[in-house]
Amino acid sequence: MKSSIHDLRIFGGTSLFQNPVHVGHPNLLRKQQLERRLSAVLNSGQLTNHGPQVRKFEERLSELMKVRHAVAVCNATTALQILAKALNLTGEIIMPAFTFIATAHAMDWIGLTPVFADIDPVTHTISPSSVQRCLSANTSAILGVHVWGNLCDVESLQNIADEHAVPLIFDACHAFGSSRAGKFAGQFGRAEVFSLHATKLVHSLEGGVITTNDDDLAARCRRLRNFGITGLTEISDIGINGKMHELSAAAGLHSLEDLPEILAVNRRNRMLWAEQLANTSGLNLQSVPQGQQSNYQYVVGRVDASRFGLTRDQLITVVRAEGLFARSYFVPGCHRSVPYSHHAGAECELTVTEAILQDVLQLPTGLAVEPSIIERAGQLLEFIARNSRAIFEEMLRTPVLDHHPQDPVFFGTVATPPQTANAAIPVAGVDGPLRSHVRHADTVPEPHLTTVSEAAVSAMMHQRSGAQ
Ligand SMILES: Cc1ncc(COP(=O)(O)O)c(C=O)c1O
Repeated sequence: MKSSIHDLRIFGGTSLFQNPVHVGHPNLLRKQQLERRLSAVLNSGQLTNHGPQVRKFEERLSELMKVRHAVAVCNATTALQILAKALNLTGEIIMPAFTFIATAHAMDWIGLTPVFADIDPVTHTISPSSVQRCLSANTSAILGVHVWGNLCDVESLQNIADEHAVPLIFDACHAFGSSRAGKFAGQFGRAEVFSLHATKLVHSLEGGVITTNDDDLAARCRRLRNFGITGLTEISDIGINGKMHELSAAAGLHSLEDLPEILAVNRRNRMLWAEQLANTSGLNLQSVPQGQQSNYQYVVGRVDASRFGLTRDQLITVVRAEGLFARSYFVPGCHRSVPYSHHAGAECELTVTEAILQDVLQLPTGLAVEPSIIERAGQLLEFIARNSRAIFEEMLRTPVLDHHPQDPVFFGTVATPPQTANAAIPVAGVDGPLRSHVRHADTVPEPHLTTVSEAAVSAMMHQRSGAQ
């Protein structure tokens, strides 16, 4: 552990985690069994087109979520589109701006206009009162997102949807295994959509599923998923290829078997993070709303810069260099991303969204995150909080090394390492206040050298004086 701030990697010390600790590492156990399973599918002669693996997977999903229908799809983005088409939606669809961009893209891609509503400051899910304010004569549906595995205020949203006679649907991509008042995600609204992408709690490598208790809607979704084909010589709708293939379904069945273990590990990790951060002032973990059970797929906190002593993005710079790849999330917000920033429907006030985009911090969890990692990471965060003033001042004085030797951003997973001297590259999660300069050796890239901008200094001082 660090005994002085000069032991921090940003000031030339050694990274705490030689093997970087990531958010969203795939949950994957019993690889040999999975290989055998995949190999059996390859030898079966049926690789796709609603084969036995997909049918079994759908059956298991509907049993688990206690819902009449589970329609397996190639990914959640396509599943959202199939659902919207099956509901014949047109015009505007109200959704939170605080969601993964796929929620908005999926709808816009098929000609719907996303109207961005604000979120609740505690659960970070869509605010029913903001939805009320976003309603218009063109509203054709309300799309809630169960962010971080916290279920939306489904009862209030349902009342609004009923009152205005529009369907309520959910992007439940974060909510596999979460429940509210004893009811599992998958049963709410007209239908819900889950992602089974490799980074999700349960996954089929890539995949998605639509769940609904509405028989007609499920039948329409099934038709649309398969080009609108209804018989050997019959095509009833304009459909798409949204089929899940057999290998994916087999991987999903494999992953489902680990659900109890994944949930238990996530719960343990959340508890350990809470213990570790109990004395770290200014970094507060989100708590699960009363009456809900979370899948704890995400461990999320907010950095109160005036108490912590560094902004969220400054903290990310320090910990990423240590190999703790904590992240901001959903930045810049759907409403501020280029395709939507000049959107006609973007007039709802997004005060809470704006605040949370600035300070939310996601910490690693999942099967790959051992208790010892959380213990060391917690000690690191506490050390940074205790020494934040000195770290901040040292950041002002000296250039800092702001990357880990195995930083995936630096090594090309996210961005290709620049080849020319002094080229500036963006650093994921470091939005705004820090400037990056890069130096390079021939083959081994040298670290980013970052200094803190004057704007950041004055913002910081302002925060500090406000807190006093
Ligand atoms: C909230 C949310 N919506 C939609 C998606 C898109 O899911 P998929 O990658 O399966 O298309 C994701 C994926 O991460 C998500 O987190």
